[in-house]
Amino acid sequence: MTPELFPRAVACGKVILVGEHSVVHGQPALAAGLPDALVLEATRLPDRGAPATLSIPAWDLDCSLVPAADHPVVRAALEVLAHCDGPLTGVAIRGHASIPAQAGLGSSAALTVALARLVLGPDADPAEVVAASLVGERVFHGNPSGVDSEVAARGGVLRFVRGATPVPIPLARPLRILLVPSGVARQTAVQVAKVQDNLDRWPMLARPMIAALGAAAEQAQLALESGDLESLGEIMNVSHHLLAGLGVSSWVLDELCAVARDAGALGAKLTGAGGGGCMLALPPADPGPLVDAFRRRGLVPLVVEVHAP
Ligand code: PMV
Repeated sequence: MTPELFPRAVACGKVILVGEHSVVHGQPALAAGLPDALVLEATRLPDRGAPATLSIPAWDLDCSLVPAADHPVVRAALEVLAHCDGPLTGVAIRGHASIPAQAGLGSSAALTVALARLVLGPDADPAEVVAASLVGERVFHGNPSGVDSEVAARGGVLRFVRGATPVPIPLARPLRILLVPSGVARQTAVQVAKVQDNLDRWPMLARPMIAALGAAAEQAQLALESGDLESLGEIMNVSHHLLAGLGVSSWVLDELCAVARDAGALGAKLTGAGGGGCMLALPPADPGPLVDAFRRRGLVPLVVEVHAP
């Protein structure tokens, strides 16, 4: 008998709040789940032997899941479905995404987590879902840290230290954030190499910046636990300047941060690998003027509320 899919599955996207890059060098980082980033819906095809299809219009994705296809999305999707003993034919999967793809917001982990949940169901053990997601993430990213899959499956804010189990952080209250995609493409590996280059050439300067970013993550955790948004904003500003010192910002990201602070953000920083991707800001109680400041510049800000896992 052909295995069935659940009709609907949901996954979070990911944003690194504090600690990108320094996390590569053993410091803690805080990452948050972006709720309902991807919703997948599955329906049966009339022909149970026809290849499965996957379409996510917001990501310009429309493909047949045929094993011979040399497309990372197809290969990753088939590997996740096979890992979970799901059907590889006879189903149409359609996705509704509220985050952009390839902007450092964990779109590939959202896809692999939601695919796993289509087979394993909404109440599946998150550890099982993460394991299935990682099978697909390896197709996309070779040797992923696992941060994206953990956040996509669990949501909330998680504290990561390389090689350790992620720990959920209790939030004093839901955390509202604003994300602005810069529209500039970047490669994580290139950005990580820039930091390594700085560490090799200027160890006496770069090492303290890495340590300070780790301290920023520790302080940000305390601010989140006590609901101290003013402090969190200041920590975000300092983190941005440290990341710029390590060479991973860009004039576009610096400008987006300046616009955010000028329009009333409590803090602003690059998020993820930097060089492009997204800017993250902490909005004041009324995010309206901040949103307008970016819309006037033709940009599309996303306001997201992060809840405890
Ligand atoms: O690829 P992104 O934009 O989600 O950022 C990755 C975060 C880094 O700390 C820069 C790299 C890593 O592996 O943690």
